[in-house]
Amino acid sequence: MKQDKISPERLEWPTWKEAYSVGVERLDSQHQYMFELGKKISELRPEHAKEIVQSLYDYLVEHCAAEESHMADIGFPGLDVHREKHVDILTQLSAFSGGDGAGPREILKLKTFYYTWLVNHVLNVDRQYFEFAQNQTRPPQGV
Ligand SMILES: [Fe+2]
Ligand SMILES: [Fe+2]
Repeated sequence: MKQDKISPERLEWPTWKEAYSVGVERLDSQHQYMFELGKKISELRPEHAKEIVQSLYDYLVEHCAAEESHMADIGFPGLDVHREKHVDILTQLSAFSGGDGAGPREILKLKTFYYTWLVNHVLNVDRQYFEFAQNQTRPPQGV
């Protein structure tokens, strides 16, 4: 029997929910907006590609800086590794020209790439500093 493949064209964009919270209001709001930007990509028309890719890139630069500053504030030991992941996403994103040559294929590539990154990063990677902060503030057991 032929197996159904997930078609990126049909990906339903997830919306941010409380369960994705990293415990910092400002960063949560930025994550919410990043999910909204994802929706814009899924509805993207080639003529708007350049503008959307640029605004996504600019927003991620701002978000990554805010997040790194938070991780430094709480003394998160995984800051350097996390920062490398941020550099990596920004490098990969800058490879999407979004220029005049952006056709449906490039947009589909961007959509799939951003979807995969966003869900994995917010739910798994960003959660690490949240869990670290929670363990720091939790009173020792038996006290
Ligand atoms: Fe984040
Ligand atoms: Fe992050």
